[in-house]
Amino acid sequence: MKTNPQSLPLPNIERSDFAQDFLWGCSTSSYQIEGASDVDGRVESIWDRFSAQPGNISDGSSGKFACDHYHRWPEDLDIAHEFGLNAYRFSIAWPRIFSENGSKPNQKGLDFYSRMVDGMLERGLQPWATLYHWDLPQVLQDRGGWAERSTIAQFVEFADVMSHHLGDRVRNWITHNEPWCTAMHGNWDGVHAPGNKNFKTALQVCHHVLLSHGLAIPVIKANVPDAKVGIALSLHPVRAASTAQVDVDATVRHDGLRNRWFLDPLHGRGYPQDIWQLCGSDAPVVEPGDLAAIATPVDFLGVNYYFPEVIANAPDATPIQAKVIVMPDRERTAFGWEVAPEGLATLLKRIIQDYQPAPIYITENGSTYEDVLEEDGSINDVERRNYFIRHLAVLRDVIAQGIVVKGYFAWSLMDNFEWAEGYRRRFGMVYVDFATQKRSVKSSGYWYARFLKGKR
Ligand code: FCB
Repeated sequence: MKTNPQSLPLPNIERSDFAQDFLWGCSTSSYQIEGASDVDGRVESIWDRFSAQPGNISDGSSGKFACDHYHRWPEDLDIAHEFGLNAYRFSIAWPRIFSENGSKPNQKGLDFYSRMVDGMLERGLQPWATLYHWDLPQVLQDRGGWAERSTIAQFVEFADVMSHHLGDRVRNWITHNEPWCTAMHGNWDGVHAPGNKNFKTALQVCHHVLLSHGLAIPVIKANVPDAKVGIALSLHPVRAASTAQVDVDATVRHDGLRNRWFLDPLHGRGYPQDIWQLCGSDAPVVEPGDLAAIATPVDFLGVNYYFPEVIANAPDATPIQAKVIVMPDRERTAFGWEVAPEGLATLLKRIIQDYQPAPIYITENGSTYEDVLEEDGSINDVERRNYFIRHLAVLRDVIAQGIVVKGYFAWSLMDNFEWAEGYRRRFGMVYVDFATQKRSVKSSGYWYARFLKGKR
């Protein structure tokens, strides 16, 4: 039976349940909100190219206009300020900085981010910059993209330019957002740009992305002496659909590729050998020194948590694949993602127990529902508000048990271009009318503001 979230008893949470210096933010990403895709020297990204091909985006849209944040960012940062956030996570569009002839970076792109960072600081928002949230310049893809080792040097140069340019004001840097998605959605199932469907390519991409992360860290630190550098991973608690050995084994495999394939090398263990064996000739080319570079210590681990997975054996699939079971009796968002606040506790405890990581920040957590814009302009998104309250209550409780989590970034400040789903999936605390670009704060946004202005 589907639970009606409105009928659930809601935990009581207060800001004062969290440390004084806890960070409260929202996350966004460049391609999903900026629009302005052909102004001020921005070059084409893989998402421009991918979106233009019919069938790739479910509503046929693209990020060409998105939230027009490129022009409207002062208004958007005003809202973030009015919410009472003390941090704001954004990403830098590499195509705004990249210059085809490889000489000077695009000054107009640099100026844009410089102005926006000033705007954050003026509003009391600590800037958290993500360098790569999936918008690779298409010209680099034409040369092989992340599957090509030379892209690593390009990324490290990009990290150098940005940290040099913004490092006097931006201390917190996330190298990559969700390498799993970059590698696997982009190159294995092909639902994201550049849309490849090749497992071997996906694994090579993954290796290069992780390596570029490790190699960028000392470069950022050389430019920003007090920098805090980390990576944001999409991680999922997994459990077996039954106690049958085949399902248990399938769960270990699934976890191996979904979680351990990233957490292990980042924590100095190299790639998990059980999965490596299963990869056979698809395993990536790893050069001497690569694994040490990937394991360069980070200052924090960003955890993006959305949903847990239930796993069964898939007899007809490749040796590495397992089946993700959709359990019928679970509460779900409009995306079909299971709503499982306790999964956050399971996940965090597992990470702590198995990896003893750097301090954790929840760099994304959020939900999509069918929002209704009422005639009076209100959006009563009770389910989304409850989702946040329930996840934050779990977070408070695991912190009380000794797990070090230092901040929470809700996904997302405003509705935006949700990748292959286009504008059909709204994740924002602010409703965006994409035809008029009018912003309306949803109930969840008003709740966040009340919570943040409440008892400290
Ligand atoms: C995450 C992405 C983010 C957004 C949310 C819903 O995987 O990092 O850009 O699409 O999902």
